[in-house]
Amino acid sequence: MRSVLVTGGAGFIGSNFVHHLVAHTDVDITVLDALTYAGDLRSLAGLPGNRLTFVRGDISDAELVDGLVAGADAVVHFAAESHNDNSLAEPRPFLHTNIVGTYTLLESARRHDRRFHHISTDEVYGDLELDDPGRFTETTPYNPSSPYSATKAASDLLVRAWMRSFGLRATISNCSNNYGPRQHIEKFIPRQITNVLRGSRPKLYGQGRNVRDWVHVEDHSSAVLAILERGRIGETYLVGADGERSNVEVLATILRLMDQPSDAYDLVTDRAGHDLRYAIDWTKLREELGWAPAHRDFEAGLAATIEWYRSNEDWWTGSKDATEDFYRSVGK
Ligand code: NAD
Ligand code: DAU
Repeated sequence: MRSVLVTGGAGFIGSNFVHHLVAHTDVDITVLDALTYAGDLRSLAGLPGNRLTFVRGDISDAELVDGLVAGADAVVHFAAESHNDNSLAEPRPFLHTNIVGTYTLLESARRHDRRFHHISTDEVYGDLELDDPGRFTETTPYNPSSPYSATKAASDLLVRAWMRSFGLRATISNCSNNYGPRQHIEKFIPRQITNVLRGSRPKLYGQGRNVRDWVHVEDHSSAVLAILERGRIGETYLVGADGERSNVEVLATILRLMDQPSDAYDLVTDRAGHDLRYAIDWTKLREELGWAPAHRDFEAGLAATIEWYRSNEDWWTGSKDATEDFYRSVGK
């Protein structure tokens, strides 16, 4: 594998993966990204120009996509509309990017017989009860709750259909909630950190009992590279790091690390259809590929993430007002 096309490489996880590829491989990288509100070229700053080509464009632009896929040995597909609250307010872009965009990439990968890795989410499996001893595995039935997760489930099923019907050489990974630097401030952890940095109160949906299974973004990237290099064609791999925590617990840690009183937050209207709990069983990835997460200390990872937002105010401050205007408009 000498060249990789990374879609969505200016987003949170895609840009981390590009940094990871530069540091851990010799491949040439082309990033295809539409630079929506969620994409930021500054997330790719400092990477060597002789290894990285950036193309601004839409993954549903068949002609553009076809030329780029033809020129790469493999495609790693991160591009998506990724935020549940946006999908509840305006689902259409989710259908466009997550379904039509994925279809467009699959058609080119099939035409040129390219290796394809599809990035997906644990949300395709729906949610678990708080007291359920079980966790999601690769055989858990699909049961998505939101427009976002329904379109991600649709994209996974398209990949599976292209593998079975057309022999596409593909793999899929479904990962739990990522955290780390350069995450858009609409998401839970950076929204609360930047609220505190701005002197506003953090906002917790409902009673904050919902549980998410946190994994550091660098561990997601190392898992994707392991699957790309050594994963079995046709297989799905779940990615997680045993990081289950309720939202109220995560917020308490942020408040403590930022020297705030423990009750310095507001409870706001719950998310419609709010998934209760996600939990990942990543045994397959460990046993088949020998992968394990490196960032096992959540509090240390969170402290470093807080420090990144504190030191990189320029990166997020321009989008804070628009983000909070949106949340106010939906009562959050
Ligand atoms: P993000 O919103 O930060 O980034 C998405 C990127 O895709 C942006 O750079 C955006 O400009 C680009 N994009 C959007 N529509 C496009 C289009 N039509 N054409 C080209 N580019 C387009 O998202 P993220 O959090 O980095 O998530 C990346 C992927 O990982 C998504 O597929 C998401 O479903 C999946 N995922 C995310 C998480 C998480 O916790 N954030 C967990 C598991 C899986
Ligand atoms: O599980 C993987 C998924 O994780 C990815 O597929 C998604 O792309 C990613 O956005 C994330 O989805 P969530 O909906 O779990 O993430 P979010 O950061 O939006 O919210 C995390 C939890 O925090 C969720 O229970 C809602 C809650 N929340 C969120 C915000 C923004 C709050 O309580 N307050 C907030 O202000």
